[in-house]
Amino acid sequence: MNFALTEDQKAIGDMVRQFAQKEIAPKAAGLDARSEFPSENIKKMAELGLMGMMIPTEWGGAGFDTISYCLALEEISAACASTGVTMSVNNSLYCGPILKFGTPGQKEKYLRSFAQGKKLGAYALSEPGTGSDAANQQTTAKKTGAKYILNGRKNFITNGPHADAMVLYAMTDKEKRHKGISCFIVEKGFPGFSIGKIEKKLGICASSTSEVVLDNCEVPVENILGQEGAGFSIAMATLDSGRIGIGTQALGISRAAYEAALAYSKQREAFGQAISQFQAIQHYLADMALKIDASRLLIHRAAWMRDQGMPFSKEAAMAKLHASEAAMWITTKAIQVFGGYGYIKDYPVERHFRDAKITELYEGTSEIQRLVIARSILKN
Ligand code: CAA
Repeated sequence: MNFALTEDQKAIGDMVRQFAQKEIAPKAAGLDARSEFPSENIKKMAELGLMGMMIPTEWGGAGFDTISYCLALEEISAACASTGVTMSVNNSLYCGPILKFGTPGQKEKYLRSFAQGKKLGAYALSEPGTGSDAANQQTTAKKTGAKYILNGRKNFITNGPHADAMVLYAMTDKEKRHKGISCFIVEKGFPGFSIGKIEKKLGICASSTSEVVLDNCEVPVENILGQEGAGFSIAMATLDSGRIGIGTQALGISRAAYEAALAYSKQREAFGQAISQFQAIQHYLADMALKIDASRLLIHRAAWMRDQGMPFSKEAAMAKLHASEAAMWITTKAIQVFGGYGYIKDYPVERHFRDAKITELYEGTSEIQRLVIARSILKN
């Protein structure tokens, strides 16, 4: 077994760390406070090839492996978790399924410019009454001539207001439940497509999240991704990869909180010494370091399995579950290390704490990750 990164992987991690700390981290608190979408960050990241990292160069991507993607996403998320999720959704939830299931024509039109980061993609599965039970889609798609007519509402769509196109799920045959779900590539300009409510959130405030409204939305038949009825499998397979990304986002948040707490503990004095000299604080720091290492190992295992072409649903669920729960614990304790200063906005840990919570919710709640893991264990 070899735990060492390759020279290329190390170089990518180092390059993105320097970029993220110089260009992204200093702006993160301001973007969060203003709930301002990180357009400038995305533009610079596109120039570095970070918006389509696992997409082959022939389709406009950077052609990296999943571990390199995780190393880069950890650095971006440590600097700004809102920018991290924007990157993650475009890379894995939008570009990923188009690469895997798209026709050459779809790739030319809907992958190249998105992998280059010139355009932004989204993933529209959730609906107002359909979250964890993703098979219970209420949005419908009816084929009429050369078009599908889509009706329904999608909600909590990351990148929604800024996306040029999205991978979107709808029922083509309600009788068949999950086997009646199909997947479509929907452009923001299609007739009948509009953006609904824009959400105000607890954390990742600089990322954009909205409803998507489909009112007799006209989608050309050639925009179906995969076969009619294959949508649910596409959604699930896509989320397997997405969950590695959200675990990585959680890891980046954890690392940022830990590094802030560590530095503060060495500098803050109480009872005549640095608080890092107290055993209570040392135990927090030790547990933070342990949870960060465990998260990273689980994430890199899942990423490695993906790169080998092995099944990795369970391992991706384990990585996301552990990393997100660790992020909640680490950010909570980071505030504890800062004491009252951790609770105010002069220091970054309250933002990390707010940002961490979403990682236990999106791309499958912690309860859904446990369900995926348990089903996999019981199947064998
Ligand atoms: N890959 C491919 N196919 C899969 C699969 C996978 N990982 N998991 C299941 N399937 C297939 C099954 O093989 C089965 O196919 P057949 O009927 O042909 O055998 C079919 O899908 C149905 O599987 P299940 O019986 O397991 O389906 P279920 O209804 O019990 O649901 C679930 C399973 C795991 C609960 C699923 O609904 C789920 O993951 N829910 C959570 C949804 C979620 O993560 N939403 C996130 C929204 S996106 C988001 O958050 C983006 C963002 O903003 C950042």
